Amino acid sequence: MTLDLAIRGGTVVTAADTMRCDVGIRDGRIVALGEDVGPAARSIDAAGLLVLPGGIDSHVHLDQFQGEGIVMADGFRSGTVSAAAGGNTTVIPFALQRRGESLRAAVEAYHAKAQGEALVDYAFHLIITDPTPGVLGQELPALVKDGYSSFKVFMTYDDMVLSDRELLDVFAVAKAENALVMVHAEGFDSIRFMADGLEAEGKTAPAFHAAARPETVEREATHRAIALAELVGIPIMVVHVSGRDAIEQIEWARRRGLTVHAETCPQYLVLTAGDLDRPGTEGAKFVCSPPPRDAASQAAVWRALAGGAFQTFSSDHCPFRYDDPAGKTGPAARASFRAVPNGIPGVAARLPILFSEGVVKGRITLQDFVALTATNHARMYGLYPRKGSIAIGADADIALWDPERRVTLTQDLMHHGSDYTPYEGLEVTGWPVTTLVRGRVVFDGGRATAEAGHGIFLPRGASGGL
Ligand code: URP
Ligand code: ZN
Ligand code: ZN
Ligand code: ZN
Repeated sequence: MTLDLAIRGGTVVTAADTMRCDVGIRDGRIVALGEDVGPAARSIDAAGLLVLPGGIDSHVHLDQFQGEGIVMADGFRSGTVSAAAGGNTTVIPFALQRRGESLRAAVEAYHAKAQGEALVDYAFHLIITDPTPGVLGQELPALVKDGYSSFKVFMTYDDMVLSDRELLDVFAVAKAENALVMVHAEGFDSIRFMADGLEAEGKTAPAFHAAARPETVEREATHRAIALAELVGIPIMVVHVSGRDAIEQIEWARRRGLTVHAETCPQYLVLTAGDLDRPGTEGAKFVCSPPPRDAASQAAVWRALAGGAFQTFSSDHCPFRYDDPAGKTGPAARASFRAVPNGIPGVAARLPILFSEGVVKGRITLQDFVALTATNHARMYGLYPRKGSIAIGADADIALWDPERRVTLTQDLMHHGSDYTPYEGLEVTGWPVTTLVRGRVVFDGGRATAEAGHGIFLPRGASGGL
C-alpha cells in the first residue's frame, strides 16, 4: 500500500540510536523505517537534517487561572503554536483546581479552553489545591482512571500551598491509584519570612524575588517532600530543580534506595539571579520560581544533566506579558517583587537551547537530548510507546532539525503571547525547521501550517517510570 508520506534521506535519532534511514507514514503513524520505504503520495527531502521525535514538554502552563487581574499570555492556540515552532509535538499543561472547586469541574473547564484550539497534542496534569474528602476519595481516583495519571502539588503560594498532612493524604491516593506526583518544592513559611524581612527594609525590586527564595528554601522543601514520600512509599517527581542544593537532596535520597525523579529547565542553565537585577522593572521578565541561581549552580545542573540525574528537561512555560498591567508590571508588581507573577515563557526556546548548549557544545549526546526532551517524558507520564520515539506503530510526531543553522533567539521567533523572551539575543546552533504531528506538517517555514484543533487530547496510562 502506498504511504501517505515519506521522509527521505535524513538521519533518524532515537534515545538509543542514530541511523540513516527513511520514515514511512500512513494514517498518522510510522509504518516503515528503512533504506527505501517505497512509494508515497508525498515526500519530504530530509537530506542534511536530523529526524527527531517531536519534543514532549511535560511542564507548561496554558490559560491557567491567576486571579487578581493577572492574565496568562498564552491560551491553547498561541501556546501550542509556540510549542510547534520550537519542535514540540505534545504538551502537558495543568488543569488547576481552585479552592472550593470540584476537581472534575476544573478538568472540564480546561478541556473547554483547549477544545478546537490546539495545534499539537496535549494531556493534562491535575493541580490539587483543595484535597477534600470528596476529592481524595472519589474524584481523584476516578480521574486517574480516566487518563489524568499525574498531579502537581505545591509547597508554597498562598492559594495553592498544601500542609504536610495534605501532601501525605494526596500521596496516599497516588499510591493507591498508581499515579505520579509532581512536587513544587519551596518552603512557604521560609519564603514569607524572607520576603517580609526584605520588604520591611524597603527591598522591593524584582531582584529581591531571588533573595527571598534562596537555595536553602528549595533544599528544605525538597528534603521534606522526599521524606513524606518515603513515609507513604511512593516515587515522586521533583519539578523545576534549580541548582546544587536540591540536586544534593535528590542524590542523597537515591543513595538510600528511594525513587525520586527530577526535572530541570532552560532557565537554570542559561539565566542567573543577576538577570533579575536589570535596571528598573526589567528584572521582572526573569521572575520565576524557583529563581535562576548563579554560575556555580548552572554548572551543577549541567553536571547532573550529563550524569543522568535528571529524567526530564521541560520549559515550565508560564507566560505573562511584560509591558502590561495584567502581566509583569501592574501597579502591585511595581510596588513589590511579591506581586510580580511568577513564570517565564520558554516552550519554543527549550529545545534549541538544550540542543545548542548541550549537544553542540559536547556536554550531552544526541541520545541524551532525545531522552531528556521526548522519550523520558512519554515513559514517565504514560504516553509511551505511542509518543516519544521514532518506531513502527508510534504516532508520526517528528521534528526535522537543521543541526548547523545558526539562529539568534528573538521575540519574533517564539510565536507566543508574551511580548518578550527571556532568552533574547542568545545565539544557538541547531534549529527545528519542520514539525509534524501525526504525520501532518503543523509548523514549517516559520509559520503554523495546520488548523487550530489538529491537536487532540491524550488520555494517559500509568507512569512507566524509567
Ligand atoms: O514561576 C513559575 N515556575 N511559575 C509557574 C508555576 C510553577 O510553579 O511551576
Ligand atoms: Zn512549580
Ligand atoms: Zn510550572
Ligand atoms: Zn488536522
